[in-house]
Amino acid sequence: MADLILTNTEGPVGVCTLNRPEVLNALNIALMDVLIERLEAFDADPAIRVIVIAGSEKAFAAGADIGEMADASLVDISERNNLARWKRVAAIRKPIIAGVSGFALGGGCELAMHCDMIVASESAQFGQPEIKLGVIPGAGGTQRLTRAVGKFRAMEIIMTGRFMTAKEAFDAGLVTKVVSKEQFLQETMALAREIGKMPPLALKAAKEAILAVDNTTLATGLEYERRLFYSLFATEDQKEGMKAFQEKRKADFKGK
Ligand code: CAA
Repeated sequence: MADLILTNTEGPVGVCTLNRPEVLNALNIALMDVLIERLEAFDADPAIRVIVIAGSEKAFAAGADIGEMADASLVDISERNNLARWKRVAAIRKPIIAGVSGFALGGGCELAMHCDMIVASESAQFGQPEIKLGVIPGAGGTQRLTRAVGKFRAMEIIMTGRFMTAKEAFDAGLVTKVVSKEQFLQETMALAREIGKMPPLALKAAKEAILAVDNTTLATGLEYERRLFYSLFATEDQKEGMKAFQEKRKADFKGK
């Protein structure tokens, strides 16, 4: 059986490429398990500072695998509890960039939204079409899409199941940048390489602080940010970064 997730590294960037082209990268359980295993391996690898998740030009992912759940009863679906594994994607501490071209639908859109930045090709289409299947998003779509684009747009997207173009998704705040279809992977890698030059402990702290926005009040979030800021003064990278600035040279970050 072909590898469901292709992995490669390029300097500090670890890349996971979804590889079920025959079903537009539909996310079956086997694929999700390999993806999570590879993401966790990159997260634990000190040589990797940033992770990219990409699909093909035609599809990032067209959603959870409908064939795997179509016949499930309430007891089956809740006892299997397959969606619980998504918590492990959300728990990755290094920055993750989604490189999205073509369809990012249902669980595919939710996977992109588990990432920290989304680089979209101009052909990308984002949507949560679960309503047309008689269900609603189950891997965070109602929560993350609403936080990204606001209540009123999220209601319409989720209740009609229509797709957003890359431009609409960018204008709504879901997408980091829109690039040409031909260049989407190169542009995703270029952003990853740029972030990969940054001090890894500060990158993790930045991700942790930004994601805390969803779970805290402003006062608690500000306190949390301040403590993370102070904690970085225990790192060699802070000493190096500030010294390099004063000495007018490029910093050499070690992740220590
Ligand atoms: N699950 C399983 N198979 C899928 C799939 C999915 N989510 N999406 C596409 N496929 C399969 C198709 O069945 C088809 O297989 P066959 O060639 O064997 O028939 C193949 O991929 C190609 O798809 P189409 O022929 O349909 O391609 P198209 O270009 O005409 O249409 C599409 C593309 C609009 C994306 C269409 O495939 C589609 O609507 N897919 C389903 C999208 C969807 O509803 N996603 C939500 C899933 S539920 C979910 O994700 C729940 C959650 O929150 C976790």
